[in-house]
Amino acid sequence: MQGFIIEGGTPLKGEIRTSGSKNAALPIIAGCLLVNGEVRINDCPCLSDVYSSVRILSCLGCKSCMSGGVLTVSCKDISNDHIPDKLMRLMRSSALYLGACIGRLGSCTLSYPGGCELGARPIDLHLSALEKMGVCINEKHGVIECSCPNGLHGAHISLSFPSVGATENIMLAASLARGETVIYNSAREPEIADLARFLRACGADIAGEGTSVVRINGVKELHGCEYTVMPDRIVTATYLCAAALAGGELMITNARACELRPVIDVLCEAGCDVYGYDDRIYISRKRPLKAVGTVRTMPYPGFPTDAQPLITAVLSRAAGVSVVAENIFENRFRANPELVRMGAQIKTEGRIAVIEGTQSLYGARVMAADLRAGAALTAAAISAQGITELGNIEYIDRGYERLEKALSSVGARIMRTQI
Ligand code: UD1
Repeated sequence: MQGFIIEGGTPLKGEIRTSGSKNAALPIIAGCLLVNGEVRINDCPCLSDVYSSVRILSCLGCKSCMSGGVLTVSCKDISNDHIPDKLMRLMRSSALYLGACIGRLGSCTLSYPGGCELGARPIDLHLSALEKMGVCINEKHGVIECSCPNGLHGAHISLSFPSVGATENIMLAASLARGETVIYNSAREPEIADLARFLRACGADIAGEGTSVVRINGVKELHGCEYTVMPDRIVTATYLCAAALAGGELMITNARACELRPVIDVLCEAGCDVYGYDDRIYISRKRPLKAVGTVRTMPYPGFPTDAQPLITAVLSRAAGVSVVAENIFENRFRANPELVRMGAQIKTEGRIAVIEGTQSLYGARVMAADLRAGAALTAAAISAQGITELGNIEYIDRGYERLEKALSSVGARIMRTQI
């Protein structure tokens, strides 16, 4: 098993660049399936989930090439509408091929997506929205067969929860559907806006992204384009939390403070100095950390669930008692028992974690149970006394481009090895 060996205790110092966003790149790559031409995606992060997407495209007959952070995709000739179970299970975002395949081909056969186990992650909202758009869904033995006997058409869809994936799936399918689609209570995450900008660059007619009503007028065809993926706000949050834990100062470039307001506010309340500029964020942590009021995860623009394990790690070293409420995924406290092994005092019950800050954490043998739990443990280990051995880092590789290299470049002592 691959792992990180981390020697904690050195403050971070220097400049670090945030990579392109995973959660923006994955729907954009799925969106390439709608395009009758060549797409060039700049700042595409080199991640295992991106390579899984490329494998799905290639199984459908598309051609792609990744070189120096640029992914080129051509889906002119599609030879297949069936995605095998082993590819669907590679990640949660494989669900987006539902909307993309249906939009382009009018049919598809696939199974349920995989991904980090953050609790039940159903796709009922995706499926019922597509049914409203004329898709017939036949589900048997875990295989989902979709067809559009009367063609794909626009519809007015009210989401009972502003699901990110469901909003993206509907946007993908609606881009080439007949007529107008309106999504009410759509997700407002910046990655939704990035997908809309990409689809528009390919000729789609979309408005309202970033608000809770998105309107899409279907067009006949989408054409190729060149597009640069937005910066990854959760990677930025990871660097901010690592600096808050380890102390020192960091300038994070290719980072947008406006998309991370709730995280920055909590860090400032905990005693960090954080300043946002146009495309960079400066953080300095010179004083000991202190506890904050309750942190509640919410859909955007609320506190992001993806940053919750990271902030929990920060608060484990903040003097006083803090409370974190996880409102999006029921199983997102998987870093907590491992943080406890490192000396943190955290009581977790259901969706609530009560954290009594301790002055220092110490190195231990711990395991990443999912992507952000792994990132949180890495950040905690950088600030801990002694050596941490962190296993299961393949989870971390799903969402970070060589996290150990990035953090080493600003002073962390972290090494990838076989453990
Ligand atoms: C996306 C992000 C993930 C982030 C999450 C919430 C990607 C690749 N992943 O995941 O990093 O943590 O948004 O910001 O972009 N739900 C249903 N039925 C559905 C769909 C969702 O009940 O059909 C529920 C889920 O179980 C969950 C909640 O809605 O409790 C949020 O899910 P959703 O917003 O869809 O998240 P994802 O798109 O899976």
